[in-house]
Amino acid sequence: MSQSVRRASAVLVVCHAVALSACSYSASQSSTTMGTSVGASSASRAPGDPRIAPRVAAQFPSTWRLPAGAQATFAPNAMAVSNSMHASDAASEILKRGGNAVDAAVALGFALAVTWPEAGNIGGGGYMVIKLADGRTAAVDYREIAPKASSRDMYLDANGKLTDKSIVGHLASGVPGAVAGMAHALEKYGTMSLREVIQPAIKLARDGFVVDSALASSIRGTDRVPRFDGKTLFFPNGQPLTTGARLVQPELARTLQAIADNGVQGFYRGWVADSLVAEMSRGGGIMTRDDLAGYTPRERTPIRSTYRGFTLLAMPPSSSGGVTMTESLNILETWPRTAPHGSTMWHHSVASAYQRAFVDRNSKLGDPDFISVPLEQLISKSYARQLRSTVRDDRATPTRDVDSMMKAPLREPMNTTHYSVVDRAGNAVATTTTLNGSWGSGVWVRGAGFFLNNEMDDFAAQPGMPNMFGLVQGEQNAIQPGKRMLSAMSPTIVLDSASQVLLVVGAAGGPTIITGTSQIVLNVLDHRMNLADAMRAPRLHHQALPDSLRYETGGMTTAVADSLRAMGWALQPVRALVNVNAIMRVKGGWEGVPEPRRSGGASGH
Ligand code: DON
Repeated sequence: MSQSVRRASAVLVVCHAVALSACSYSASQSSTTMGTSVGASSASRAPGDPRIAPRVAAQFPSTWRLPAGAQATFAPNAMAVSNSMHASDAASEILKRGGNAVDAAVALGFALAVTWPEAGNIGGGGYMVIKLADGRTAAVDYREIAPKASSRDMYLDANGKLTDKSIVGHLASGVPGAVAGMAHALEKYGTMSLREVIQPAIKLARDGFVVDSALASSIRGTDRVPRFDGKTLFFPNGQPLTTGARLVQPELARTLQAIADNGVQGFYRGWVADSLVAEMSRGGGIMTRDDLAGYTPRERTPIRSTYRGFTLLAMPPSSSGGVTMTESLNILETWPRTAPHGSTMWHHSVASAYQRAFVDRNSKLGDPDFISVPLEQLISKSYARQLRSTVRDDRATPTRDVDSMMKAPLREPMNTTHYSVVDRAGNAVATTTTLNGSWGSGVWVRGAGFFLNNEMDDFAAQPGMPNMFGLVQGEQNAIQPGKRMLSAMSPTIVLDSASQVLLVVGAAGGPTIITGTSQIVLNVLDHRMNLADAMRAPRLHHQALPDSLRYETGGMTTAVADSLRAMGWALQPVRALVNVNAIMRVKGGWEGVPEPRRSGGASGH
């Protein structure tokens, strides 16, 4: 992958990560491109703030497929990064017209619904963490909720066995929150109207766009979509759309126009809501007009924590992301220095921290409107010291022992996408949104042109039994009407010691969201990698149960693997972990990096 990077005022830099291999740039006024490359050279360039230490060149195992020293996209003023170049460009367009980061993030969110339909969709929900340059912060929770007619055991068959109905088909969906959440954020923190920011999405849906290799591969890979009405659009003549085809979505364009014309009511009432409810009755679903009309996003206080002098703003429950990340980082902070990246001790300490934080996550977290969450305790430094005392430096601890040591018995025992936006004033938005599984429940709303989520599987559909991500969760996350299912989404903003935005980051990947997002934070803060290296560094994951340390194939040396096994870790290689999109402040502007393991784009000016 080559990403050429140009720097000059008023130069728009546009780079594709994987789907397309080249970058393009266009000068909006005649100017000289200085051609400063950001990759290898930025290893020695200090970020803009003198309080931030200079970057250090990263070193990865020779077997690792994403070598260090790649380039990031640089823009002096503003930047948007997502899994879709079209959607990043939509945000960039709004930023160039003077919109702030919230305006641009909402434009990006709607555009993703068109160009990344497998995940970034109005039929799902998400979370947005906002830091405004004037000091205000916000955490908007627009997670789906269980329909009123849902019940604790609705996915069990007559023999008490868990079915796949929480994953596929009309029963799998929570009441979508995306439109209400984005509209709320825009109205309170944006400067433009919904009608204005939704225009790029309407155009993309109405006029179409060219399917890239990432989208084509996702369509080819789904066996869910062909089972429902979306097959007419995505499998014309029974064949999946291929790279280079033009995808035009007139029904979705009409839905977006209804939202432009009537605001949230255009989605939650009127003909769009009618189409959704009609789709439900065609397939035996339970979502009603009343469910839709009653949906409200919640504005919560971001979790504000510190890590080695930096401040993190993260998402509180109903997502587990902020709590679990904070708890993990607090445990890691009890070591005076972080072990070198990729070393045995690094894997051991990081995985041990995750393992403990996930035991709490899986047994204590849920929707705070329904259960009492011991938030202050879980994110306190003293609790982290207690947990640290259960980590031996020479041996892994089996999760069942961690569990009893923590006196927090487990009661019993994938698509998402993240985008980051910053603007010229220093406002920042981190948003993660999801349908849960790829293409959600597979159900496509006839007439309205969008996919519905299968978020109900994020509940403990049968407490003690693993969900589709292998998460074994307890009664606190059991299904109740109106309740938000526990999420792992972790939109995060890191501030430097002067409270300036340093990093805007988040991810897709179920529970690996938490570990992946926090490793970008660690790579930048502890290992002082530049953003491109931080994103390419091999990743690891531990979620308590299953009790295994996952790592990326080729990303761990044989010597480290042998040592970890000798310490009692069960190692599990996987091809790739997590899909992150991040922005970092550097000298004179911003660097943006879409996930090098997936597709996406960074767009700025
Ligand atoms: O909210 C959650 O934690 C899950 N629904 C996220 C699913 C996910 O990231 C799948 N994706 N790639």
